[in-house]
Amino acid sequence: MTITNNEKREIKELHLKAFGKEEGPVIGDLVGDMLEEQETISINIEKDDKLVGNVLFTPFKLNEHPEKRCYLLAPIGILPEYQGQSLGKELIEKGVAHLKSLDVDAIFVLGYPKYYGIRGFYPTYVALPYQKEVMRIDAWKMRELKPGSMAEVGGTSVACDAIMKPEFWDLNYEPGS
Ligand SMILES: CC(C)(COP(=O)(O)OP(=O)(O)OC[C@H]1O[C@@H](n2cnc3c(N)ncnc32)[C@H](O)[C@@H]1OP(=O)(O)O)[C@@H](O)C(=O)NCCC(=O)NCCS
Repeated sequence: MTITNNEKREIKELHLKAFGKEEGPVIGDLVGDMLEEQETISINIEKDDKLVGNVLFTPFKLNEHPEKRCYLLAPIGILPEYQGQSLGKELIEKGVAHLKSLDVDAIFVLGYPKYYGIRGFYPTYVALPYQKEVMRIDAWKMRELKPGSMAEVGGTSVACDAIMKPEFWDLNYEPGS
């Protein structure tokens, strides 16, 4: 995906604001690194001619199922003054529609259990990166985009280089602390 340097700066700035003082700097750097990777898919949402939300999708490999085409949803951010107006939901659905058009099998996410639970994401048998065994935790979920294609699919996984750092997958990690 080709994104201009100006757009990259704008997207990074948006996530800095969305995630706030503590998490913002770590997530901003992660966004910067992800946007340098050619295969990253970046989806925006605008209101009043202004960028108010962004979500990134990066390739997510299943070691035992290399034929499956999967993406990781991370991060997603909506400007604080626009949060709680269903724009996050709209952004996820815009991303899902785009990924379906690319014939993607599934999307994975590590995030607020309730938020993604009501947006079509379910617990998965695929292990988190750096884990050898599946931990069916509420925060780790998958949304199947091709019906039935992920049935009985499990095993270990690897995310893109930018987010392949153990701290991003440590469930006790708090950015900024
Ligand atoms: C999380 C975020 C993307 C949601 O976007 P949004 O446009 O505010 O959310 P929507 O209006 O689509 O949905 C609102 C729902 O999300 C829930 N929600 C919002 N922030 C939440 C949070 N931090 N934890 C749990 N639920 C949250 C609301 O309770 C509400 O639930 P409901 O639909 O049951 O009423 C946005 O609030 C944001 O950018 N937050 C800061 C960055 C962040 O935390 N990103 C996600 C990391 S997993």
